[in-house]
Amino acid sequence: MIITVGNTKGGVGKTTLAVNIAAARAIQGKDVLLIDADRQETAQTAISIRANNEVMFGIACSTYADGPILRSQLLQQKDKYDDVIIDAGGRDSTALRAALVLTDILLVPYRPGSFDVWALQDISNLISEARSMRDGLKVYSIINVADSNPNSIDNREAASIFSEYPELEFIPSHIVGRKAFSNAAGAGRCVFEIKPQDEKANSELKNLISILFGC
Ligand SMILES: Nc1ncnc2c1ncn2[C@@H]1O[C@H](COP(=O)(O)OP(=O)(O)OP(=O)(O)O)[C@@H](O)[C@H]1O
Ligand SMILES: [Mg+2]
Repeated sequence: MIITVGNTKGGVGKTTLAVNIAAARAIQGKDVLLIDADRQETAQTAISIRANNEVMFGIACSTYADGPILRSQLLQQKDKYDDVIIDAGGRDSTALRAALVLTDILLVPYRPGSFDVWALQDISNLISEARSMRDGLKVYSIINVADSNPNSIDNREAASIFSEYPELEFIPSHIVGRKAFSNAAGAGRCVFEIKPQDEKANSELKNLISILFGC
């Protein structure tokens, strides 16, 4: 399965979710490749920290890949791994465009209060472009760094914005802003692997994994 965590908007949690998803799959016994398609190479740094700490269940990670490199890496590597997770973003990201041609699923995180509606219009345009070239692109959107009160005004406003973009299938359960997610991702891990355990974070990640992978 190839999953791209992507948004043209920065700071919405692409890397945090990509690392959490990759590590969650690794501990399920999957061979995972994380492709860092962001020039800042944050995901790669996090995975090096994981490797340096000799965390059980390794994750392979590529160095920064732009569009053409990402495409050739995907074509070469996709059959060697159970899962490929791509962290891609940036307004003019060639990597995000390249990923959309080959990915099975695009997960678009959105942060409440970041009402840059242009970003959703941008991603919606990219999805239409990709769908004109290929079949079977599944797209989910999720609110990340959500308020812990599911009915807060910010959460509801963010959810209502998505109702205008039906091409992005909205996941109604949010990922709440929790230290566990940022701490885990910073160490190249998922919330299941850190102490103290945050059961609410665990259950949010478990739910997301089951939606993406059906298990
Ligand atoms: N669910 C969460 N709970 C708590 N903090 C979070 C969560 N998701 C992201 N963050 C924090 O929000 C900030 C932005 O997240 P992240 O770096 O993952 O976003 P990004 O979309 O990859 O950003 P960029 O566009 O710069 O690559 C980071 O400080 C991260 O630790
Ligand atoms: Mg990032």
